Amino acid sequence: MPVITIDDDFDAWRNAARHALAQGLTPESIEWRTEQAAPSLFDSASDASPDVSAKSETIRISKELATLLKDAAHFRDPQRWGFLYRVLWRWAQGDRAAASAADEDGARLNKMAKSVRRAQHDMIAYVRFRQREASLGAPEYIAWYEPDHDVLAWGAEHFADRMGKSTWLITTPDGAAMFDGAHLHLERRPALAADHKVDTPDAAEALWMTYYRSIFNPARLNEGALEQHMPVRFWKGLPEGALIPGMISQARGGARRVGQAQHVGAMGGKTVQVEAQAAQPERDAPTSLDTCRRCDLWRHATQAVQGEGPRDARIMLLGEQPGDQEDLKGEPFVGPAGQLLDDAMRRAGVPREQVYLTNSVKHFKWEPRGKRRLHKTPAQQEIDACSYWLEQELHDVGARVIVTLGATALNALLGKRATLSAHVGRVVPYRDKLIVATYHPSYALRQNDEAAREKTVAAIVAALEQARDLSG
Ligand code: URA
Repeated sequence: MPVITIDDDFDAWRNAARHALAQGLTPESIEWRTEQAAPSLFDSASDASPDVSAKSETIRISKELATLLKDAAHFRDPQRWGFLYRVLWRWAQGDRAAASAADEDGARLNKMAKSVRRAQHDMIAYVRFRQREASLGAPEYIAWYEPDHDVLAWGAEHFADRMGKSTWLITTPDGAAMFDGAHLHLERRPALAADHKVDTPDAAEALWMTYYRSIFNPARLNEGALEQHMPVRFWKGLPEGALIPGMISQARGGARRVGQAQHVGAMGGKTVQVEAQAAQPERDAPTSLDTCRRCDLWRHATQAVQGEGPRDARIMLLGEQPGDQEDLKGEPFVGPAGQLLDDAMRRAGVPREQVYLTNSVKHFKWEPRGKRRLHKTPAQQEIDACSYWLEQELHDVGARVIVTLGATALNALLGKRATLSAHVGRVVPYRDKLIVATYHPSYALRQNDEAAREKTVAAIVAALEQARDLSG
């Protein structure tokens, strides 16, 4: 029986599968092995690999099948390559049922893909980075995680998109991902992973635990739902995992009414100090915002608009970019959106002079429309270029809570894949801080329907109230 030996990844399988199809090799006639699983260099002549230099078959498959195959390729099962080839073979023979959930193979394929997607979601939800002592050097953050399927590369890219220039390492039982501030490196070596297993609690963890305890409400405890959303098998990798059994038994033991209040009461206003991440200026970095040429927006703006507010503010409000009036005055949020925001702050009991107000992009981006300058949404490149200044503000201002106003601000912190709809009204831990995401005041101003506008303003007020409570 011919043996096809491939690297254990989707691209290698796809190339080999195309060649095998071109040679008319039926699924039953091939044995698939992966590099790691290849038993010996001395396979018998009858085990010779098919000629993979032969021409390969180009077959058209639906987008849906392509996605299913790609996702299912990460399913942990040594037999998966042969199974995926069987599905592809059937499709190439014109048997479209192979991808259908009503078919035996199709159902298995769909189930595998779904399970992998679940593992991707889990990885994002349950990886917890621990900050290391600065004197230890890079990586600044480390995490130990045991994914159900081979989703490390996918998860690592997700975090690389979101953690700016921080250096970090995620180790798993069979590999590790490292980010050196610019590039992502993947290692498929279990030994390396084991060496780096992480078990030292640190300051960031203490902050996280305090936060977790304070949001845990025994009166609302639903153990079934908790275990469904945070499966028990992940608890050991989560700092808060150690708290959960105790908190559950406390809640079961009749403390439902008073459990959280007791704990919050006992905190006595104690705060956990966590070293903020140091900004990492580039060698050719401008020394002042006024001379910034990191992107082209300065060319058409009157001036750069600095953030404004006390350095020891507990709350930072992060907008998108200065508008027409801000550009002329050189101050953030002084135009119509600023007035709406002032109003919302008054309603929420958050005095403007106590918060730090800034923007993701510091120059006004606009296009001419007659005599007017019309706001233009900044491109991701411009947001990335300006993150240099935002990093410094995050470092210099001691805000515990950041209220992101609109999608640009959210993306500036969490990366472009973070959608506003999925985050509005939610609290998301971010480094040593918490993000409360809400709408941009300009969005409310654009709504003509009064009821809809008031609903948006109410959501902004609620986010500010939440920030006030969390920052106290
Ligand atoms: N919109 C913003 O995002 N920021 C401002 O400063 C003004 C309007």
